[in-house]
Amino acid sequence: MAAPLTSKLLVSDFASSVRHIPLTYVRPISDRPQLSLVENSGDTIPLIDLRDLYGPNRTKIIRQISHACSTYGFFQIKNHGVSETTVNKMLTVAREFFHQPEGERMKHYSTDSTKTTRVSTSFNVSADKILNWRDYLRLHCFPIQDFINEWPENPVSFKEITAEYATSVRALVLRLLEAISESLGLERDHISNRLGTHAQHMAFNYYPPCPEPELTYGLPGHKDPTAITVLLQDQVSGLQVFKDDEWIAVYPIPNTFIVNIGDQMQVISNERYKSVLHRAVVNTEKERLSIPTFYFPSTDAVISPAQELIDGQTSPAVYKSYPFVEYWDKFWDRSLATASCLDAFKASTT
Ligand code: OGA
Ligand code: NI
Repeated sequence: MAAPLTSKLLVSDFASSVRHIPLTYVRPISDRPQLSLVENSGDTIPLIDLRDLYGPNRTKIIRQISHACSTYGFFQIKNHGVSETTVNKMLTVAREFFHQPEGERMKHYSTDSTKTTRVSTSFNVSADKILNWRDYLRLHCFPIQDFINEWPENPVSFKEITAEYATSVRALVLRLLEAISESLGLERDHISNRLGTHAQHMAFNYYPPCPEPELTYGLPGHKDPTAITVLLQDQVSGLQVFKDDEWIAVYPIPNTFIVNIGDQMQVISNERYKSVLHRAVVNTEKERLSIPTFYFPSTDAVISPAQELIDGQTSPAVYKSYPFVEYWDKFWDRSLATASCLDAFKASTT
C-alpha cells in the first residue's frame, strides 16, 4: 500500500511518524544509493595538517594541497585555526535550532531561492521532481552586518554564535584561497582578487533518521556552485565523494573540516582542479547535521580562467568569461543534478 501523503512541509515534522517514506521521496531503481557498493576499504580523501602553513613547511603543505585538489577535489584539514569551542557551540546551537517546535522553524520557511535567509527542505522544492530527506536553514553571512538582522532570533544565542563562527571560517577560507593560488603557481592574492567583493553563505543541513535510506538521498550527487566549500559535520557519517567511478564514504574525524573545490575554482584554474561529485545519504538510526560554508564571488564579479594558466598550444582556455550572476541564476533555476551548470560557459572550440 502506498505510504500516506503528509501535509507537513519539513521532513523533521513527519520523519519519526512514518514507517515508509512518502512516494515523493522514492528514487527510481536506477538512481538509488546502493549503500552496499560504497567503497569502504580505506581509500579516503587526504587529511592535511595546516599547523605549519606559515612556517618552514609551507611549500610541503602547498604541495599536499595541490595533489589533493587535482586528484580528489576534496581534502580534510586539521589544525585549521577555528577554535574547538567555536565549532562546538555552532553545532550545538544549530541542533537546537532544528529541535525547536515546528512553528518556530516555519517562521523562516520559503521556497524563494533569492531570499537571503530562509528555511526550506529538499534542495529546490520548486524544481525537484523527487524530494530529498533534508531540511535546511540557509543564510548569507558576509558582510555580516548586511544580513544579521534577518537571521533567526531563536535560539537566543544563534546570531552571536553564528557570527563568531562565520568570521572565523572566513579567515580560514582566505588562508586557503592564498594556499590554493600558490598551489596553482599564481600570486598569493590572485583568487581572492578575482572574486570581486566576495560572498559567503552558510547552510545548516538537518537530515532526520529515515526508515528507508536505501530508497532516497539526503542530497543527491551534485557539484558545488562555489569557489570553495568548507564543510563542518557532526560525528554521523553520510557524505560520499565520487572517485574513479565509485562512491567513497568520508567518515567524520573530530576537529576537522572538509574542503572541496567548487565550479568557480574549476573555471579559474582552467580545469587543473575540478569540482567533484558528492552526495549525502541518510540512515535509520541517527539524525545528522552538516554545516557547509559556501564561499563565492560577489554577484558583480566576472569569472574566467586565470591568464597565467592559459597557453594557446597546450592548455587553451576551457571556459569563456562570464558574469557570476549568470551562473548563479542557472544554478537555482533547476533541481540539484549531476549535470554541471558550467556547460553553458565553455569556450567555443571553433
Ligand atoms: C552541500 C553538501 C554534504 C553533507 O550542502 O552542498 O554537499 O554532508 N552537503 O551534508
Ligand atoms: Ni555539496
